[in-house]
Amino acid sequence: MRSMSLPKISTAEIITDFPIFTRKIRDGKRLVYLDSGATSQKPQCVIDAESNFYRTHNAAVHRGAHQLAEEATDAYEGARAIVARFLRAEIDEIVFTKSATESLNLVAYAIGNADSANRFHIKAGDEIVVTEMEHHANLIPWQQLASRTGATLTWFEVTAEGRLDLSQLDRVITERTKIVALTHQSNVLGTINPLTQITQRAHEVGAVVVLDACQSVPHMPVDVRTLGVDFLAFSGHKAVGPTGIGILWGKSKLLNELPPFLTGGSMIENVTMTNATWAKAPKKFEAGVPNMAQAVGLGAALNYLDNIGMSSIFDHEQELTRYGLQVLSEIDDLKIVGPTSSADRGGTLSFTVGDIHPHDLGQFLDAQGIAVRTGHHCAWPLTRKLGVPATTRASFYLYNTTEDIDALVTGIRAAQKYF
Ligand code: ALA
Repeated sequence: MRSMSLPKISTAEIITDFPIFTRKIRDGKRLVYLDSGATSQKPQCVIDAESNFYRTHNAAVHRGAHQLAEEATDAYEGARAIVARFLRAEIDEIVFTKSATESLNLVAYAIGNADSANRFHIKAGDEIVVTEMEHHANLIPWQQLASRTGATLTWFEVTAEGRLDLSQLDRVITERTKIVALTHQSNVLGTINPLTQITQRAHEVGAVVVLDACQSVPHMPVDVRTLGVDFLAFSGHKAVGPTGIGILWGKSKLLNELPPFLTGGSMIENVTMTNATWAKAPKKFEAGVPNMAQAVGLGAALNYLDNIGMSSIFDHEQELTRYGLQVLSEIDDLKIVGPTSSADRGGTLSFTVGDIHPHDLGQFLDAQGIAVRTGHHCAWPLTRKLGVPATTRASFYLYNTTEDIDALVTGIRAAQKYF
């Protein structure tokens, strides 16, 4: 088996930043972690940032009149500034949530709360457009919004190659379309979607575009000033950050026009016994004491990624993807589910291997210390459309090497002999 040298980032150094790679798996085996699409591993600096917050600054932000409260607020707002810089956004455009799922639900529920005087008001006859490649977090909130308001859910289909079928662009996005919600990079196929045509058409008809960037923001440079979308969601835990923290980015004007989602403390301007008015965004969307330590951990994570360089990380994963596609395609009976060339796709490789059930394959690989994900990957309509009830998925990140992919190939070949 061949190995290619990847000069752009030093995985040997990067791996030492992640304590989990010092442990052994399944009776002393090296951990080959190929499941970063589900969640990424954490560098020591992120673990330290989170625990240091609890050790030295812990207090409720935006409330107390004491030193700890001041420090906690500075750390929390400092993290917001880091996220803004990372996305090339304005600071008041960054909303902390508990997850990308919550970010997407926030937009869907807030739109559902808009009355007829609000620009976001949605009603029977209006259309919400999604795509067949959405994972459940960017599908079910829109299904639910459609069912609550009487709006119609329509979608872009996926081609056999695993690309969006844009041949019907004007038929799918119509004068009735109010929202277009789509993924930037598919968590199953790895496909990176072309946004320009879609955002142009959406804006032509007055719709807003909501981008699920869970699988793109951790892996490539993302600049919200040039993407052309109106809202963007991602989660911290897929970007070497903590669990329990997500981001919603939205254009400032739109965030301020959007009604609130959750109500309570911190998100208000004035409260009487019978009424309340709302603070400006982002506070309007951060009811209650927020996930402070997790936000601070996310700040450390994004600084860590930024120091390595998102372009270098993207290039590294492109090399791994090219290599992975090449060596996997040499395995008899292995079928890649998704684009087979590395153009416009990221490092998420889903596949089937003959008649071996993905769950059996996953278990077999696990016994070799290789962590992959198996199943429908929370994108059931997509796998159903592609005629595969389940796949095995290997997803790459900055700490993976061609040796990891070689181990996967060896494991698959051994499974073929075993089953
Ligand atoms: N977190 C889910 C995944 O593994 C959606 O892709």
